[in-house]
Amino acid sequence: MLKKKAVLLGKILGATVLSAMIMVGLAMPAKAARAQLAVTDCVKCHEKEPATIAANESKHKTAVSCLECHLEHGPWGKEIIPQCAMCHEGKSHYKLENCLGCHVDPHNPLGIVFSGNLVAPCLTCHEQQGKEFKEFPSKHAQQACNFCHEKHRQIPECFQCHEPHAKGQTMADCLACHPVHQPRSIVPDVKTQRGFCVPCHEDIGALMAKTTTKHQAFTCVFCHNGPHPTVPKCQGCHGEPHSATMHQKMPKCIDCHIDPHNLQK
Ligand code: HEC
Ligand code: HEC
Ligand code: HEC
Ligand code: HEC
Ligand code: HEC
Ligand code: HEC
Ligand code: HEC
Ligand code: HEC
Ligand code: HEC
Ligand code: HEC
Ligand code: HEC
Ligand code: HEC
Repeated sequence: MLKKKAVLLGKILGATVLSAMIMVGLAMPAKAARAQLAVTDCVKCHEKEPATIAANESKHKTAVSCLECHLEHGPWGKEIIPQCAMCHEGKSHYKLENCLGCHVDPHNPLGIVFSGNLVAPCLTCHEQQGKEFKEFPSKHAQQACNFCHEKHRQIPECFQCHEPHAKGQTMADCLACHPVHQPRSIVPDVKTQRGFCVPCHEDIGALMAKTTTKHQAFTCVFCHNGPHPTVPKCQGCHGEPHSATMHQKMPKCIDCHIDPHNLQK
């Protein structure tokens, strides 16, 4: 049986290597295989793998050789295909399942492909985003990381999936109100232009556009300063400008001033 295989293989393999293999397989301890097959031999019969390694900068090109991974060769060798754990141990990332699911070609280990719905594997390196998703529930937190990041290190545009509220808004504008991994934590900057609030509060926008009081120049967030929706009190800025007797029949400021967005005096 062995002999038959050897003859068959003899047609494929060069005579020198073959005799080395036969010796290894039949008579010598496994370690001697490394002494017989040199790294320079591989390329004589394998085109693809050496070419892939050569074409892609990685530590698998510079820090290890074919023979440090492929300790033995068929048909008699047993340690032909290495386990990643042989060399990568200790970090939580190295305890993941299916390394080759992302590192699809060990001869180009940084040619990473994402498939399926990935969250936990990303968190082995990006704890922060996982924490944000957990602490701030949102519809983004219900998605897998690679729903948006289809490739590693790729940043998607909001506009791939959403329309802006107002014409001309940039992605930087979106992010100023919606930190993307906790999009419901909306804390607009005090300088946010009124045009960004008005699309959803049209009636108030219209009032503010025509009012002639000293409130007319303010941004919305000058008063609504805090997480959306913050409603301020008049007294926070004005204190109690009138006497207590004046308030006896009209306790609330807007009983007389009617509307902060269009004051009556
Ligand atoms: C003389 C030709 C020849 C040389 C030299 C050679 N191989 Fe191979 N190799 C083959 C053939 C033929 C096969 C397919 C038959 C088999 O799987 O045993 C193969 C298969 C393999 C496999 C796949 C085994 C599997 O189970 O899928 C690996 C890995 C491999 N070779 C690595 C190497 C490495 C590393 C070197 C250099 C140290 C090398 N080979 C040198 C001919 C060669
Ligand atoms: C024989 C040892 C060995 C085996 C087996 C091995 N690696 Fe590596 N790998 C290394 C060394 C050495 C480095 C460089 C040092 C480091 O990053 O730890 C490295 C680096 C890497 C890198 C970073 C590459 C870079 O250029 O920064 C990735 C990704 C990687 N390995 C993935 C894998 C995967 C996936 C497997 C299993 C399919 C695997 N390795 C099997 C030795 C090995
Ligand atoms: C860091 C470890 C590592 C290095 C270095 C490495 N390989 Fe591999 N190689 C693997 C692993 C792991 C597989 C199995 C891949 C799989 O199952 O998809 C593999 C598979 C192969 C195969 C079989 C491919 C197939 O389609 O069946 C060949 C042939 C091969 N390697 C040759 C080489 C040659 C030649 C070199 C050097 C130029 C080399 N490898 C360097 C880890 C390595
Ligand atoms: C969900 C996809 C995914 C899986 C599964 C995966 N990796 Fe990675 N791995 C990555 C990404 C992404 C990087 C970062 C690459 C970069 O820095 O550009 C990485 C980096 C690495 C690195 C280099 C950086 C470091 O931290 O050491 C090694 C080594 C590595 N992976 C080994 C493995 C091993 C071993 C397995 C299986 C136990 C594995 N990976 C499973 C996606 C994955
Ligand atoms: C092994 C560690 C590792 C894994 C696993 C990993 N990454 Fe990364 N990731 C990195 C490193 C390292 C960087 C670069 C960080 C830097 O430049 O500060 C990075 C950067 C990023 C960036 C930012 C790019 C930028 O421009 O700032 C995104 C987005 C990203 N990763 C998404 C993911 C997603 C999604 C996953 C899971 C599918 C994942 N990563 C898995 C290590 C990893
Ligand atoms: C809804 C789409 C979306 C989802 C889902 C998503 N991201 Fe992001 N991610 C982005 C966008 C957009 C940016 C750019 C944010 C910026 O520039 O402030 C980003 C940035 C990043 C960065 C760069 C650093 C940072 O925080 O700005 C990393 C790392 C990252 N994401 C990892 C992840 C991980 C891990 C997950 C899953 C837990 C994930 N992302 C889920 C859209 C998403
Ligand atoms: C790949 C698609 C994708 C990208 C990119 C994306 N989103 Fe989303 N976003 C979604 C989906 C899907 C939902 C949930 C929609 C629904 O169920 O109605 C959502 C919901 C939201 C919500 C509502 C959250 C909630 O919990 O109610 C906000 C706000 C949001 N996105 C803002 C952004 C911003 C800002 C960006 C860019 C920084 C962005 N999104 C990028 C897909 C995306
Ligand atoms: C000035 C702050 C602000 C800016 C800038 C902003 N948003 Fe919003 N966004 C909000 C508020 C407030 C809500 C409503 C939240 C609620 O319903 O409680 C919202 C809701 C959303 C929603 C949920 C669905 C909906 O329409 O009600 C999506 C999606 C969204 N924004 C995407 C975006 C995108 C994309 C951009 C950039 C083009 C953007 N936002 C810019 C404040 C802003
Ligand atoms: C995408 C639409 C959207 C945008 C943009 C938006 N809002 Fe709102 N706003 C809403 C919705 C919906 C509500 C009511 C639901 C709620 O309370 O969250 C609301 C409620 C409010 C309330 C409280 C109303 C009450 O009766 O308690 C205030 C104040 C407010 N918004 C101010 C602003 C300001 C200031 C801006 C600009 C920085 C803004 N909004 C931008 C949708 C939006
Ligand atoms: C965030 C601070 C702030 C809040 C909240 C606020 N105001 Fe004002 N208000 C101002 C400032 C600043 C002026 C201008 C003062 C000046 O120029 O002397 C002003 C002016 C006024 C004036 C004079 C208008 C004029 O044209 O002469 C009245 C009346 C007034 N506020 C009433 C109110 C009432 C009533 C409320 C609550 C419904 C309120 N304000 C809430 C800051 C605020
Ligand atoms: C001068 C301060 C001030 C400015 C500027 C201001 N608001 Fe208000 N707003 C208030 C106060 C005070 C209230 C609460 C009135 C009350 O007690 O009923 C309020 C109430 C609201 C409400 C909830 C009640 C309602 O009338 O529906 C919304 C929504 C709102 N503001 C949106 C806006 C928007 C949008 C802008 C900018 C276009 C804006 N505000 C500008 C002070 C202000
Ligand atoms: C009973 C009706 C009434 C009530 C209630 C009322 N105000 Fe007035 N307020 C007035 C009148 C009338 C004026 C105009 C007086 C003037 O021009 O001398 C005025 C003027 C003001 C002014 C402008 C003062 C200036 O120097 O121009 C401010 C600010 C003001 N009110 C704030 C408030 C606040 C804050 C409240 C609630 C705590 C409030 N008002 C409640 C009737 C009222």
